[in-house]
Amino acid sequence: MNKIILNNPLDMHLHLRDYDMLKLVAPLSSKQFSGALIMPNLVPPITTKDMLKDYKKRIQLSTSNDNFEAYMTIFFQLYDKKFLEDIKDDITAIKLYPAGITTNSDGGISSFDIETLRATLEAMSDLNIPLSIHGESDGFVMDRENEFLPIYEKLAVNFPNLKIIMEHITTKEACDMVLKYDNLFATITLHHLLITLDDLAGGLLKPHLFCKPIAKRYEDKKALLFLATSGNDKVMFGSDSAPHPTSKKESCGCAAGIFTAPIALQYLVDIFIKDSFDENQIKTATKNLQKFLSYNAVKIYGIKPTKKQITIVKKPFKIPANYTYGDIVVTPMDANEQINWSIL
Ligand code: NCD
Ligand code: ZN
Repeated sequence: MNKIILNNPLDMHLHLRDYDMLKLVAPLSSKQFSGALIMPNLVPPITTKDMLKDYKKRIQLSTSNDNFEAYMTIFFQLYDKKFLEDIKDDITAIKLYPAGITTNSDGGISSFDIETLRATLEAMSDLNIPLSIHGESDGFVMDRENEFLPIYEKLAVNFPNLKIIMEHITTKEACDMVLKYDNLFATITLHHLLITLDDLAGGLLKPHLFCKPIAKRYEDKKALLFLATSGNDKVMFGSDSAPHPTSKKESCGCAAGIFTAPIALQYLVDIFIKDSFDENQIKTATKNLQKFLSYNAVKIYGIKPTKKQITIVKKPFKIPANYTYGDIVVTPMDANEQINWSIL
C-alpha cells in the first residue's frame, strides 16, 4: 500500500500561541487538519468571552482559506452557571490546569476539593460542557500522572454526567483508568507513541523532546500504542504540539513542549500500518487510525468536522531543520530526520 486517505483529521489538543508565533504555526496545522481543540494557556490565559472571540478571530486570520475549524476552550476557573450559559455556544471544552504544573499554568487550580469545585462542575455537566484536564500532581516527575489518577477517579464518580478528558496520557495505569469509567476519555500525543525517557535523557540530552508530562518507560509506551491503535472508542489524537522559540528550547532552563504539528499525520500513518503485512491488515489499521484521528472525537465532543481529505503517500519526507516567520524560529521534533511518508 503506497497511499492512505485520511478523512477529516482532528487534533484534539493543540497550542497555537499568538501573534507571530500563531502566524507561523497555525497554517502548519490548518492545511492538514480539518479542525483542532485550541488550548487556552496564553499569557494571560483565555478566561472571558471577549478574549475568546478575539483570539478565535486571530486564529481564523492565520488559517484563512484552509477550511479549518478552531474548537475553542477557556482556562478553568470557578465560573458560575450564568457565565457558562452565556459562553457555552462559543466553546467546545474547558481546560483545567493544576496551578504551576506546566507552561503558563500559574492561574490554575490548587485544590481539588470536590465541594469547592461542585457548583462549576455541576453547571458544566448540566450544560454538557466537557472538562479537559492536564492531570499531573506536583510530586516526583515520573510519578506525577499516576499520582493524579485518584483525582480523575473522584471527579468521574462525583460528576457521572460530566465528560472528562484525560489529556495527553503517558502511563500504563492511565490507560487502564480511562477504560474504568464511562465518562472518562483521553487524548494521546504523537510523541508519547514514539519516545520514552531514554530518548530524551538516556544519551545526550535532547531539549526538543522535553515536554510535560515527561515521556515515561518502554512498558508505558507499549500500553499507549496498544490503546491508540486497537480501535478503542475512548481515545483521540491530541498532538499537544507546543511550539517554543528554538532559543527557549536550546537554553539553560529549557521550556516544556514538543513541536510536532507538521509531522503528525506522516508519523501516525507509519505507526498504524507499520505491522500490516496484507491488504486486510492495512484496511483494519486504516480504519483504526481513522477512529483515533477523527471519528472518536466527533462522537465524544459531538462536533461536526469540516470535510477534508488528506492523502499520505509512501515517499520519504525530510523534516525541515526549522520553521520561521519574521524573527521567530521553531525547531520541530526529529528535525533533519527522514519519515517514510509524505503529505501529497
Ligand atoms: C505545553 C505548552 O508549552 O503550552 N507544554 C508541554 O510540555 N506539553 C503545555 C502543556 O500542555 O502541558
Ligand atoms: Zn498541551
